[in-house]
Amino acid sequence: MAYSEKVIDHYENPRNVGGFDKNDPSIATGMVGAPACGDVMKLQLKVNAQGIIEDAKFKTYGCGSAIASSSLVTEWVKGKSLEEAGQLKNTQIAEELALPPVKIHCSILAEDAIKAAIEDYKSRHAG
Ligand code: FES
Ligand code: FES
Repeated sequence: MAYSEKVIDHYENPRNVGGFDKNDPSIATGMVGAPACGDVMKLQLKVNAQGIIEDAKFKTYGCGSAIASSSLVTEWVKGKSLEEAGQLKNTQIAEELALPPVKIHCSILAEDAIKAAIEDYKSRHAG
């Protein structure tokens, strides 16, 4: 399997690895797994009072493409509103990283992680 240069770059120099305290009310946590391969991705967003994502961190137990996808989305979502971040599509990730067809599910994992984090935020800030 030949990885693209962008995948290798994110894999070797992953951006924003780590985590935040999930009990902090400004933190949204999305944790998802890929049934196809068993990989797990945790994505956390730090959201300010205006609903803007100020920071993002991830931990991914998975392949190079999954790590690169999550690293890339932590860069993309910073400065975006939750609504904008929720519109991010896995196809944009796959295109940016030039993922081959068998690795498309890795980018879907990243999209699912964002959506899960947004849901987490909404469920904890409802009402
Ligand atoms: Fe997920 Fe290879 S199948 S790491
Ligand atoms: Fe499963 Fe990449 S091979 S997430």
